Amino acid sequence: MGVGVLTAYADFLPVTPDTPLISMGEGDTPLVRSRRLGATIGCDELYFKLEGCNPTGSFKDRGMVVAMAKALEEGSKAVMCASTGNTSASAAAYSAYCDLPSFVIIPKGEVAMGKLAQAMAYGARILMVNGNFDSALNLARDFTESHPVTLVNSLNPHRLQGQKTAAFEIVDTLGGSPDYLFIPVGNAGNITAYWKGFKEYQSAGRSEVLPAMMGFQAEGAAPIVRGAPVANPQTIASAIRIGNPASWEGAIEARDDSGGVIDMVSDDEILDAYRLLASKEGIFCEPASAVSFAGLSKMHRNGLNLSGRRVVCVLTGTGLKDPDLAVRSVSNQATEVEPSIEAIEALTISGRA
Ligand code: F0G
Repeated sequence: MGVGVLTAYADFLPVTPDTPLISMGEGDTPLVRSRRLGATIGCDELYFKLEGCNPTGSFKDRGMVVAMAKALEEGSKAVMCASTGNTSASAAAYSAYCDLPSFVIIPKGEVAMGKLAQAMAYGARILMVNGNFDSALNLARDFTESHPVTLVNSLNPHRLQGQKTAAFEIVDTLGGSPDYLFIPVGNAGNITAYWKGFKEYQSAGRSEVLPAMMGFQAEGAAPIVRGAPVANPQTIASAIRIGNPASWEGAIEARDDSGGVIDMVSDDEILDAYRLLASKEGIFCEPASAVSFAGLSKMHRNGLNLSGRRVVCVLTGTGLKDPDLAVRSVSNQATEVEPSIEAIEALTISGRA
């Protein structure tokens, strides 16, 4: 494929004869079967959906391309979003591609360096607020309500329409739904979109069963688990440092209708999963993405029997988004060495550093 989600899934998207079928090559991401980690948790059929392979390195591109195509169709003159980083990187890239100005509101000092670098490189106007993501989102929503600027956060319904295509791809690749879908939950748009996608595909006769939706938040930013907004959310997974998710109800519905759970994992569990995915599977994802595997490991420890079950973990963004954290959180494996064969032999063949 490689044609982009608007063309690949036009029949399931709000595409009209006037919708420009733009694409930066989003979607069609790999579904990679686990070679090592599945066996450690009694799961013989575990897959990772590598959403970091999208053009800007996260799943946001699936929804952004639809939101941007509709903005062009409607004659919009500028777009705005609030973001913990990935939405802003995606909005900035697609607006560069579409020649629309973009304004991104981010919580000052809380966005990972790779994401900030992207928004800068693509030429977005970056507005840093002293506040968290939730207050940035309120600002973006209020501003776009009273100004001729299109909001491209997931409150824009076209975003979730595009994001649901990841569920279609999983079903298309596996020939049916998995039994469980593990997914990180921040603003809760993505779990809402996946559930919509699985249901629509089932209605269209493309799959028989529906997966149980297993959403995970970070312990310090787990409003849905706790049943109340969190005023000052904290977690190492900055992408999901969110205290009052916009799609709260969508997440609850996905959980309840699918017989799934919304639970939480600690920062230590997130970092463990983050390191294991990289060192045992060769998958470098960002900490927020590792939440899905951290959640799966937790369910296994709590007794969930995964034998004979088909499980997908959604890995939402690439680890290159947050290089500082990688360098800080893995043990230092770099050693200085004299530039000679003997010195290298001493550190490799005849005893490791
Ligand atoms: N994983 C990553 C890498 C994210 O960037 C996000 C959200 C999520 C998971 C959670 O998805 O919000 O749909 O529940 N990032 C948003 C942003 C908030 O601004 O980039 P969600």
